[in-house]
Amino acid sequence: MSAPVRTRPIVTIDGPAGSGKTTVSKRLAERAGLLRLDTGATYRACALAARRAGISWDDGPKLGTLCAGLDLAFRREGGELRVIMAGEDVSAAIRVPDMGMGASDVSRHPQVREALVALQRRMGADGGVVLEGRDTGTVVFPDAEVKFFLDAAAAVRARRRFLEWKSEAPPFEDVLRDVLRRDIQDSTRDHSPLRMAEGAVYIDSTTMTIDEVVDAMMEML
Ligand code: DC
Repeated sequence: MSAPVRTRPIVTIDGPAGSGKTTVSKRLAERAGLLRLDTGATYRACALAARRAGISWDDGPKLGTLCAGLDLAFRREGGELRVIMAGEDVSAAIRVPDMGMGASDVSRHPQVREALVALQRRMGADGGVVLEGRDTGTVVFPDAEVKFFLDAAAAVRARRRFLEWKSEAPPFEDVLRDVLRRDIQDSTRDHSPLRMAEGAVYIDSTTMTIDEVVDAMMEML
């Protein structure tokens, strides 16, 4: 197979829940003039679609069929990335804690990963994008021009999530337990577990501000 011809780069940012991928990729996309592709949103949308269709998050074959037919698109609105499923804006509905866990559950199934990775590749094929997720540098675009692995201490990641949810946040202990559970589930699953891609730049954001992280990334770019 010949190498793809891309005139614009593909940048990948992988890392665990709460490592800052979303905020950092938003700023990086703005500063570098790239489109942001939130791959986690595709798994969240799958979890939501399954819940609505009465399909269990454990049923790989049925989830695979559901994902293969998922009508999903990203739309930029006022600098924000909106997630549109079958014409409906589901951006808020997929952001609740339950769908985070659901996304982690459905993402274990190879049938789901196959369908959603194909979708993500189609969306990013032309380049000029920054993808954020768990396997964007290892599986989705292993030939990406620049790859990052963003990390932070678990307690700091849980605190960020806790603050992000504001008054809707569950008790901090629950948020921390959820983060730790997802860490284990996402990095020990059989298919495309979370790990650092070959050639990726490791950034530990535990004691860094968002701007410091983005500055470091811009320098690499
Ligand atoms: O980044 P996030 O919290 O929106 O991701 C939700 C879940 O989706 C995460 O726990 C694991 C799964 N996921 C994945 O398996 N691969 C990706 N590239 C992105 C997310």
